[in-house]
Amino acid sequence: MATHVQSNLSSIASADGARAVDGVATPSSGPRHVAIIMDGNGRWAKKRLLPRIAGHRAGVEAVRRVARAAQDMGLECLTLYAFSSENWKRPASEVADLMGLLRHFIQSDIDEFHANGVRLKVIGDYRALDPSLVTLIEGAMARTAGNSGPVIAIALNYGAQDEMVRAAQRIAQKVARGELVASDIGIADIDGELDTSGLPPLDLLIRTSGELRLSNFMLWQAAYAELYFTDLLWPDFDGQALGQALDAFRMRDRRFGGL
Ligand code: IPE
Ligand code: IPE
Ligand code: MG
Repeated sequence: MATHVQSNLSSIASADGARAVDGVATPSSGPRHVAIIMDGNGRWAKKRLLPRIAGHRAGVEAVRRVARAAQDMGLECLTLYAFSSENWKRPASEVADLMGLLRHFIQSDIDEFHANGVRLKVIGDYRALDPSLVTLIEGAMARTAGNSGPVIAIALNYGAQDEMVRAAQRIAQKVARGELVASDIGIADIDGELDTSGLPPLDLLIRTSGELRLSNFMLWQAAYAELYFTDLLWPDFDGQALGQALDAFRMRDRRFGGL
């Protein structure tokens, strides 16, 4: 019995991470869930003496390229940080441009996603957005909900602290209704109330543009994610760059606190 448990544990470990054989790292399986902090649109535009909106437009093209590449590479889930709960601090004109691009992206690309069996999901407090955008988002999610292909999750009006506050409020309501005892609250209860509930665990978190911070993105989910930073600006990121990140991931030795 003990041997059986032990061999199960070691097979889980070898499936999850790169293992060192005779001191040489050997590639492990690829990530199931990759998330990207798509940063650097403004700097991409500035380098070309273009307005920031031109960088955001080029950023949408990169989203299309990378979403297709992720499907080709067999990812189960790709989560893209499109608008943070802190991005409201930007000038109203830039916020309006970003919302316009998001609206147009969902309208124009939903048919292709659906045809490819993609499930579109939006995480973040999207219900606080313009009502017509909320209707569009909910329509797109409902239309693709029954698909069996990969999930493309767009983080919109997303902040990890806000996500955790909203989860805490729902858990507190369960306690108040007598459905849950406070001392019984566990990791799974919190996991289950986050916007990412039902998605595979986050394996790889990528940030473009050379910034070395998480900017309030997936703080809970990143607990054991591998982090990958690239100096590429988001509009320059493509399937090849994603492939390089996946190659780097496969060479990592994921230990999850073990040996
Ligand atoms: C990322 O690019 C897109 C969003 C945050 C919406 P930025 O707009 O942050 O580009 P930089 O960081 O100014 O270059
Ligand atoms: C993070 O990028 C948010 C998104 C990519 C949507 P920011 O450009 O907003 O992050 P900071 O302000 O540099 O931390
Ligand atoms: Mg930025």
